[in-house]
Amino acid sequence: MNRIRLVVNGREREIEVEACKLLVHAVREDVGLTGTHVGCLTGDCGACTVLVDGASVKSCSVLAVQADGAEITTIEGVAGDDELHPVQRAFWDEFGFQCGYCLPGMLLTARELLDRMPDPDDDAIVQAINGNLCRCTGYGSILRSIRCAATRMAASGEPAEEAS
Ligand code: FES
Ligand code: FES
Repeated sequence: MNRIRLVVNGREREIEVEACKLLVHAVREDVGLTGTHVGCLTGDCGACTVLVDGASVKSCSVLAVQADGAEITTIEGVAGDDELHPVQRAFWDEFGFQCGYCLPGMLLTARELLDRMPDPDDDAIVQAINGNLCRCTGYGSILRSIRCAATRMAASGEPAEEAS
């Protein structure tokens, strides 16, 4: 077993994991945050997306030991204490999800995009969510949601990471 340290949603966590354990399984089973979904486990669907040191990462394609010392943001860390993050609110208002299985990964990808590119055009949005599959929405409402979030965050004058 390997003892590793992660800062998950701002809280320091020390866990013991086997060398072969995937980050997605460590987050769900050892940290106990099950909002990160397991889909394909082959790096294709994006359901397992989390932020690792601010970058969106498919957590099924990383070993937990490789993330030792990293800051991890999961879907549980996106909202503020009393209110949804603007990206979450926009997906709610623009019907950006149906079954919701893709949603945690999609939201973290969208948030990472808006952190580094506050005013993305449609091509940039499509490029960003290229690795996040949604079987329900047809993507039009997802595009609208991310555009809406960008507009609202620009109006509030706050970068995405501070808007929650
Ligand atoms: Fe990780 Fe599908 S579960 S990309
Ligand atoms: Fe069902 Fe995206 S809302 S997979």
